Amino acid sequence: MPRSGPVHPFQEPAMAQPVPPRLEPLDAISRLTTDHEAVKELFARYMGATSLPQKKELIDRLCTDLVVHMALEEEIFYPAAEAVLDGSSLILEAMAEHAAIKALITKIQEADAAQQQIDDRIRLLAELVSSHVDEEQRRLFPKVRAKNLDLSALGDRLAQRQEELLSVGSPG
Ligand SMILES: [Fe+2]
Ligand SMILES: [Fe+2]
Repeated sequence: MPRSGPVHPFQEPAMAQPVPPRLEPLDAISRLTTDHEAVKELFARYMGATSLPQKKELIDRLCTDLVVHMALEEEIFYPAAEAVLDGSSLILEAMAEHAAIKALITKIQEADAAQQQIDDRIRLLAELVSSHVDEEQRRLFPKVRAKNLDLSALGDRLAQRQEELLSVGSPG
């Protein structure tokens, strides 16, 4: 709406705060945690979605984001974590959970699945992912953060690899 008269200099700029750039430097754990939040948000949107095209689009995004996120952890974060967590079984458990999540994603992407089956599988996927993410954030990440690991450099590697994976589409 057009205004008459002077605009208070401290009002408008406050409204026009720039959105933080997507590739701001984040350490590895903050980056992975941000991914977790984004995936949770997509699941919540799926649960509220009513139209089929909307559901299909959300499934594509969920599957791509999860597959890329798990690849980043398996290629970069887990090996680095494993190197500093002597003898911990946390990585082994996390890998087993990834395998279960990937198997379910494959089922969700089956072309002949009925919509009700897909909805049920997405609900199950949301549960698996939620419990896995909980384990990572409550047990794995604090243990890794307590170690002498360059999480900032690791975060840069994650960002670079994420860009590569997303530019070639959904991996594996
Ligand atoms: Fe994970
Ligand atoms: Fe994760």
